[in-house]
Amino acid sequence: MRLLLMGPPGAGKGTQSAALAARYGIPAIATGDIFRSQVAERTPLGVTAQGYMDRGEYVPDEVTNAMVAARLGEADCARGFLLDGYPRTAEQVAELDALLAASDHALDAVVVLAVDTEELVGRLVRRAGLEGRTDDTEPVIRRRQEVYAEQTAPLIALYAARGLVREVDGTGTVVDVAARVDAALGAQSTIEASVS
Ligand code: AP5
Repeated sequence: MRLLLMGPPGAGKGTQSAALAARYGIPAIATGDIFRSQVAERTPLGVTAQGYMDRGEYVPDEVTNAMVAARLGEADCARGFLLDGYPRTAEQVAELDALLAASDHALDAVVVLAVDTEELVGRLVRRAGLEGRTDDTEPVIRRRQEVYAEQTAPLIALYAARGLVREVDGTGTVVDVAARVDAALGAQSTIEASVS
């Protein structure tokens, strides 16, 4: 199973990804988590990424793509993977397409979690008080939502054109959302192709 988990900041990608990946026996790979661990270890990659992350901007494609290509080349990805938060730009879609083509594989589905913007901001402001993520200040939370809307939301149409998108209501309890994701993965594409 080769899955993408997409959705705006705070939609619940990280919350849903571990259990979903476990159900399919595949690794959950979150680019944001990898960047944060590199920042914590003060590696060169972490130093590069930190400024972008703290401003709510995307880390440059060449950096992100190289990191993901290396991770997908590891042995535990041979039978599949769940990518959480990648791809987020058209260049990242092209890189993932190339990586999959080179290994003669294809994506099985793209799960998109849908949540209203004010609910997203509220969730992340609440998380700031609990976890203190440096990008969870309200101005940066709002900038992250804008960057998602500008650069990542349009990519959903590309995957819809391939019949891969399963849009899921990301509101309600975590258990309810997980059940909807499971049901959606057993169903046909929920968004019809709308682009050529
Ligand atoms: P990343 O770590 O991926 O952050 P994000 O996309 O902003 O997403 P979040 O982790 O904030 O939200 P989530 O959707 O995972 O929700 P979560 O489950 O945590 O990326 C951080 C940064 O890294 C980016 O801004 C960028 O700089 C860089 N980066 C990462 N990937 C990149 C890429 N591909 N290219 C370039 N740069 C990249 O839940 C959020 C909160 O809501 C939690 O408190 C949770 O408990 C709560 N919650 C979850 N589900 C529910 C529910 N059903 N009801 C109520 N609350 C809920």
